[in-house]
Amino acid sequence: MTRPDYGIDAPGLVRTFFLVGSGALLLLLLAAFGFWPGRPWGVLLAGLLVLVATYMLGMGGFMVYYSRVTKLRDRERLIEHLSLSGRERVLDVGCGRGLMVVGAAKRLPDGKVVGIDIWQAEDQSANSPDAALTNARLEGVAERVEVQTVDMRQLPFPDQSFDAVVSHWAIHNLYNANERATALTEMHRVLKPGGRVILADIEHHAEYAAGFAGLGFTDIQHVGASLKTAFSSAVSFGSFCPTAVLARKPVAPQLTINRNG
Ligand SMILES: C[S@@+](CC[C@H](N)C(=O)[O-])C[C@H]1O[C@@H](n2cnc3c(N)ncnc32)[C@H](O)[C@@H]1O
Repeated sequence: MTRPDYGIDAPGLVRTFFLVGSGALLLLLLAAFGFWPGRPWGVLLAGLLVLVATYMLGMGGFMVYYSRVTKLRDRERLIEHLSLSGRERVLDVGCGRGLMVVGAAKRLPDGKVVGIDIWQAEDQSANSPDAALTNARLEGVAERVEVQTVDMRQLPFPDQSFDAVVSHWAIHNLYNANERATALTEMHRVLKPGGRVILADIEHHAEYAAGFAGLGFTDIQHVGASLKTAFSSAVSFGSFCPTAVLARKPVAPQLTINRNG
C-alpha cells in the first residue's frame, strides 16, 4: 500500500444500503420483461421502487463519499479548533485507522499523539492497530504516534496527562447514555487544566454539551454546523449529522456560588 486508507465507516450499513438499492433497481428492470402487474398497481410499485432505490443508493454513496473525501477535510477543520502549538501530547479516543491521530501528529513536530481503540470491524472496515500505524508511516508521522488497545470507558492514563483530547465518530458506539457519560468523565480526567477537547459525532451533541458542562468544562461550543450538515441531517433523518462539541477544561476549578449563603 502506498497511499493512506482511512477505511469506510459502518461498512455493514453501507453494504445494506447498496444491496437494497440495487435490489430495487433490479425489480424496476423486471418491468421491461413483463414481470409486472398492470395499472394501477404497476405504476404504484414503480414509484415506490424509484424512491427506495434513490434513497438507498444515495445514502450508500453519501457514506462512502464522507469516509473517503469529506472526513479528511473535516479533520483539518476540527483539529484547527485545538490551536496546537506543536509540542502537545494529544489523545484520540476511538482512533480507528488513525484519521485524527495522523491529522494531529502532522501539526505536532515536537509532540506526540496516542490513539486508543478496541478495533471493532463493524464500525470501520479493516479496523486494526496495524492499519493506523501503516497510515501514520505513509503520512510520515510514525515516530510521533502510538496506538493502544484500550476501551474508552477505562483509560489507563494518569490524571492530567494530555494537553488535548479528540474523538471523531466513536462515542455513539456506546449505546448506553451512562457509558457515554463515563467516557466523557475519563476524557475530562486525563486532560490537563486549560486543555481543549473536541468531540465530533453523528448524534448525541446536546447530551455531550450537557455532560461537559456537568464536568465543569467551559467555553462549550457546537462547531461544524453548515448547509452541508443540514442537508446530511435531513436526508438521513438526523443520524449522520457531522457536528462537533468543543470545550475547555478550566485552569482552576470553577467556583459554585451558593445564593442561600
Ligand atoms: C466509525 S469508527 C471512527 C474511527 C475514527 N475515529 C475515524 O473517524 O476514522 C468508530 C471507532 O470507535 C471504536 N470504538 C467503539 N467502541 C469503543 C470503545 N468502547 N472503546 C474504544 N473504541 C471504541 C471502533 O472500534 C471504531 O474504530
